[in-house]
Amino acid sequence: MPTLRSATLSPVQAATPSPTAATTPRAAKRRFTPRRAAESPDSAQFTAPHMSPLAGVGPMGTPKMLSASPKSSRKRLYGDFVAPQKPKWNPRDPAQMQAVKEALHVATVPSCGLVCRDEEQSRVFDFCKACVQQDKAASLYVCGCPGTGKTLSINKVKERLSRWADEVGMETPDDLSINCTNLGSTSDIFSKILGKFQVRKKAGGKLSPLQQLQSMFSHKESAPGRMLLVIVDEMDYLITRDRAVLHDLFMLTTHQFSRCILIGIANSIDLADRFLPKLESLNCKPLVITFRAYSKDQIANIINHRLKVLEYDVFEPLAVEFCARKVAAASGDMRKALGVCRSAVEVFESRLHDSSDQGFGVVTFDHMDIALSKVFKPVVVNSILCLPQHQQMVLCALANTFQHCKKKATTLGELNKSYIEICRSSQVPAVGMLEFSNMCMILSDQVCKHP
Ligand SMILES: Nc1ncnc2c1ncn2[C@@H]1O[C@H](COP(=O)(O)OP(=O)(O)OP(=O)(O)O)[C@@H](O)[C@H]1O
Ligand SMILES: [Mg+2]
Repeated sequence: MPTLRSATLSPVQAATPSPTAATTPRAAKRRFTPRRAAESPDSAQFTAPHMSPLAGVGPMGTPKMLSASPKSSRKRLYGDFVAPQKPKWNPRDPAQMQAVKEALHVATVPSCGLVCRDEEQSRVFDFCKACVQQDKAASLYVCGCPGTGKTLSINKVKERLSRWADEVGMETPDDLSINCTNLGSTSDIFSKILGKFQVRKKAGGKLSPLQQLQSMFSHKESAPGRMLLVIVDEMDYLITRDRAVLHDLFMLTTHQFSRCILIGIANSIDLADRFLPKLESLNCKPLVITFRAYSKDQIANIINHRLKVLEYDVFEPLAVEFCARKVAAASGDMRKALGVCRSAVEVFESRLHDSSDQGFGVVTFDHMDIALSKVFKPVVVNSILCLPQHQQMVLCALANTFQHCKKKATTLGELNKSYIEICRSSQVPAVGMLEFSNMCMILSDQVCKHP
């Protein structure tokens, strides 16, 4: 449920701008007028001031004086609606600054429920629940681009499943989470699963862990009693040339006495195309759930939701929207959005140190603009930054020759002089002529590749 305050302030709820209009500060600012807010679905809250239970209540619940100033028309229109103000963020307080950074950290798992992934989580939960209720093994394949909340959502479902099993008095399935990036070799996945069933070492004899699992799931006497929820994350790492490990893994759920509820998570978009047809032919096609890239509204919603643990406002709403728009247009990667927000907080923090102003303030559109331009650099800038130091210096020498000396062409000798000059002024030993001409050739090849 949006709060009155968020309905008043949230750009996402208050405006429904066109997806294309919007990346300039002015264009974005223009949209956030009270008029637009009144057109939003929440407009009833704005157009009936007398209905507000908060009428006449000012910040922190104190009686509120209505301003008669013509400049404060917004206040006159909505004054009675503004919820008690939150305490102001004091960014100079290290504990508060730390709390903000933590809320935005990618490793911080939101303690409350997840927003924007309800449908996907419900589908995964229903799948697991059906397996437990029917006491039946099955497999699920979750795919989607990076940073779309796959790992987070599946972990939340795991917790929910165990709460549900407790509530209804069913046996909670045991669980095993494997991140394939940590496996020494792809087939280690089978020993990890086998280990969870706590099979005594001798029991397997000369059989490989995969064969032991296959044999265990084929006979009623050897089948384990309890179901095992196996979450295989970063499954892309299991791709071998013949995809045998992937096939064998999913096939484990097809044995008559299998106890595995298998959830594979991957972000290779085409992984499904490469291994699902074979599984289908083996009559073992997993249920597939795709996590789509986050939209701008979802990104803004998630950021605001994560910040709700704080008592104070940290960002100007417009700043959050700007970040959401840019990230959604580029990739819809929530990890990137959180990184940009943290970077904007750092920009704000560094300016705070430089200024003598003791005012509090919040992270603004301008701070976000700087943070975004650090992350979304033009391709050409990124390519230059990736070049070795001396090649970058050759480019500086070229720029010097063409821009400052206003020349249209130059010789290798002249360019070398300019390069040596730059090396001297930056106290970096210059490379010899042979290496210099090699560097020029490499650079020229790069330009041909990316004209
Ligand atoms: N709905 C959400 N609510 C809150 N935070 C989210 C949400 N979705 C993603 N995040 C955050 O975004 C980051 C990336 O999420 P997650 O690791 O789940 O993505 P992923 O889809 O598994 O990415 P990858 O394919 O790279 O493994 C995490 O820090 C996570 O906390
Ligand atoms: Mg993940």
